[in-house]
Amino acid sequence: MSKYESEISRRRTFAIISHPDAGKTTLTEKFLLYGGAIAQAGVVKGKKNSRAATSDWMEIEKQRGISVTSSVMQFQYEGFCINILDTPGHQDFSEDTYRTLMAADSAVMVIDAAKGVEAQTRKLFKVCVMRDIPIFTFINKMDREARDPFELCEEIEKELGIDTYAVNWPIGCGKDFKGVYDRNKREIIHFTSNGGARQATAVEVGLDDPELDGLIGPAFRTQLQDDIELLDGASCDFDMERVRHGKLSPVFFGSALTNFGVEPFLEDFLRMTTPPLPRQAGEVIVDSMDDEFSAFVFKIQANMNKAHRDRIAFMRVVSGRFDADREVYHVQGGKKIKLSRPQQLMAAEREIIEEAYAGDIIGVFDPGIFSIGDTLCAPGKKFRFDPIPTFAPEHFRRVRPLDTMKRKQFLKGMEQIAQEGAIQIFKTPYTGMEEVIVGVVGTLQFDVLEYRLKNEYGVELYMEGLPYEYLRWIENDTGEPIKEEQLILGTDVKLVEDYKGNQLLLFASQWSIHWVQDKNKDLTLTEFGG
Ligand code: G4P
Repeated sequence: MSKYESEISRRRTFAIISHPDAGKTTLTEKFLLYGGAIAQAGVVKGKKNSRAATSDWMEIEKQRGISVTSSVMQFQYEGFCINILDTPGHQDFSEDTYRTLMAADSAVMVIDAAKGVEAQTRKLFKVCVMRDIPIFTFINKMDREARDPFELCEEIEKELGIDTYAVNWPIGCGKDFKGVYDRNKREIIHFTSNGGARQATAVEVGLDDPELDGLIGPAFRTQLQDDIELLDGASCDFDMERVRHGKLSPVFFGSALTNFGVEPFLEDFLRMTTPPLPRQAGEVIVDSMDDEFSAFVFKIQANMNKAHRDRIAFMRVVSGRFDADREVYHVQGGKKIKLSRPQQLMAAEREIIEEAYAGDIIGVFDPGIFSIGDTLCAPGKKFRFDPIPTFAPEHFRRVRPLDTMKRKQFLKGMEQIAQEGAIQIFKTPYTGMEEVIVGVVGTLQFDVLEYRLKNEYGVELYMEGLPYEYLRWIENDTGEPIKEEQLILGTDVKLVEDYKGNQLLLFASQWSIHWVQDKNKDLTLTEFGG
């Protein structure tokens, strides 16, 4: 294998998804510790005020002590070069979070053992399923009171519609957490909480070994034997093909905080997950090992440095090797360009890089030429990667400038920010551009919008909340727009258009989506726009 091939085949690029507080940051931090990328815990996310140090790209982040952008971290572990894509939670959840999953080849889903599947996990999970990427489950916080492990697996299967295969099985939980049983190695990993120690002691004991009683006690031993018997009889067989296609999720139990089960998880995960996956570009399939460079833009971050008003375009390298000295072809712009100041994030720091390989994520300075989904490739090649879907916003506001004289700046600002993909803008067929309906995936984007229009365009906004929570694109290939009179819509449904001219419906409730579908049998609605 050439150096070039081995560089690509050792790359693993994945996203970590979870509901806030499930332990995503703690787990990421432990991964980075193993890889030696950080010297101590607390770097990925410190306390509220120190966290800004990681990504103080926008004033708003500093004020709130949150990270608006999803960040990327690279580290080395046992010969693998690992790219972790972080997906922000809470109100800083945005369309970026969804798009980040477009750049990943697999996902690690962190679940709180006491809470099970939560809202945010469900949302992100849907996008993973859409892409058929492998999904690994880490059920965290076993050192606390937890729900029954069978029940947790059943919930994942039922709520998320994916089969599960428990790679290890917990013995007790909370104060009585004794460790896990590794089903493949057929050994117990005994839990001894020693705070920040790198690894818990692994004791190889078979299920029938009399030593087991001394280790976990007879009651837990009987319970474990019963559990394993039940598990072997009732659960799916392990099938790597199904894992690779996101149909079967390997499940691991552990405790990120006490460092229990993290390293075995990382090792199994790296063994099972996939090297950089190929991507579709219309008829063409671009393989990571193709010897020429290609990448697509999945995120644009404006004003990371306020003094320079710069924008950074984040791209995922799909094939080949990126060389900072070579020109690349920007397909949508129709031009050969040199990507300037390419950089990569290594844990807390950004650094300028000279080369990157398929699987890597690089950020380049964007003088305003890139859009989400753009393709970059070797000069002479002209394929376009399939577009990144637009995700349905869940919060809507009617927005206009407070000062009507500022209409021009208002529109310019709105369009530019929409082009970056931070917000989506809509209009009703009957109104002009005096007012715009703004849709966002997470409400923080409204604050970002308000802040940026004021600071960058000098426009103060008037915003009015709208009662809609759901959006569906109308599929229509007749070439003629649908007129409102042609549809039976309730009073809480609104027909709007996006700026590409696609028609959409805004709904106040899930119930009214069903109602409209029921009354308009010929209407096809989709959740992800093209
Ligand atoms: P997130 O990124 O998914 O939002 O979660 P994060 O890692 O920040 O963890 C949320 C809280 O849960 C933190 O406590 C963290 O210490 C705790 N935690 C994470 N993993 C485990 C675990 O395995 N066991 C236990 N018992 N707790 C865990 P916090 O008090 O909210 O924050 P902090 O003050 O410790 O930073």
